[in-house]
Amino acid sequence: MIVLGIETSCDETAIAVVREGREILCSEIISQIAIHQPFGGVVPELASQEHCSHILPLLQRALKQAHLSLSEIDLLAVTYGPGLMGALLVGVNTAKALALATKKPLVGVNHVEAHLYAALMSTLTPPPFPCLGVILSGGHTALVLVEDLTQYFLIGQTIDDAIGEAFDKVAKMMGLGYPGGPIIERLAKQGNDTAYSFRAGSVKEQEFAFSFSGLKTAVLYSLSSPLTEDIQRDIAASFQRAAFQDVLKKTTRAAQKWGISHLLFGGGVTNNCSLKTLFEQQAPHLICHWPTPHLSLDNAAMVAGLGFHRYQLFGATDPLSLEPMARIPFQKLP
Ligand code: KG4
Ligand code: ZN
Repeated sequence: MIVLGIETSCDETAIAVVREGREILCSEIISQIAIHQPFGGVVPELASQEHCSHILPLLQRALKQAHLSLSEIDLLAVTYGPGLMGALLVGVNTAKALALATKKPLVGVNHVEAHLYAALMSTLTPPPFPCLGVILSGGHTALVLVEDLTQYFLIGQTIDDAIGEAFDKVAKMMGLGYPGGPIIERLAKQGNDTAYSFRAGSVKEQEFAFSFSGLKTAVLYSLSSPLTEDIQRDIAASFQRAAFQDVLKKTTRAAQKWGISHLLFGGGVTNNCSLKTLFEQQAPHLICHWPTPHLSLDNAAMVAGLGFHRYQLFGATDPLSLEPMARIPFQKLP
């Protein structure tokens, strides 16, 4: 089965063609980084406009890249949420129009679940369920119990900023570019990670919840003038250490509590090499499944991949009833 995936939940317009949920025939992405860079974050209206101008040319480009025509596609899969409403509307309406015009089946895919599926697409030996899902992206930070590809239960999530958002905001405060994650990672490599005693927040009576806004404020108060490159490096290293130590601590505790040894990582922050090294060194008993760099950032291959399985399990969605959803909460633990 050949699936065409469409992703427009945030600032990447992406279309991919994937065979049997795994084999990527093409995965095209138009990034809007340059558009949003001057603002230090994503401007929702601009994101929607950009998706509108790019989506149809990108569809043609993707099909050409995969050496396929639209008639050879068996299934359409689209991210219906969570994300920016105006941005989601572009992908969902394009997918609905394609489904109605071509009479092909359509499935809606949850973007965050797709981020976790990206780790499964990246590994040759699929882990046994249940797994512990660790979502670390620009819009989401959560630990979830993944029972199978259809059941996800929330263990804990951020009560304020997402971890990637904290990286972006810290970079912005230091006058660095956007997105902040890769810049902070690069600076942190040469910095002293104990120069500042930053800590991420803990949440009362919610052992597995995250809070990064206090950490971000602590960084703000530590900014001195002049902000030399040496100071920037030390701040970046200390901030990154504090954020990742917190993820490590809560993840290992959750794995222990639920007796799980396989971790599925998802989201752009999982690109960070220091994070991978930290888990390798400090949690060698856990088996970590990381998405490849291409599949960690927003992409449509993970959407097509998970869409394939959803169709096998539940069949198609009625194209006229599929609506975008800005927020899709995870189910509570039973
Ligand atoms: O998953 P993603 O593409 O978008 C969302 O679904 O939110 O993640 C983007 C986020 C940005 O906040 C970016 O700064 C962060 O991932 N990021 C990183 C790295 N590469 C991207 N954070 C830390 N280290 C990195 N190397
Ligand atoms: Zn994402």
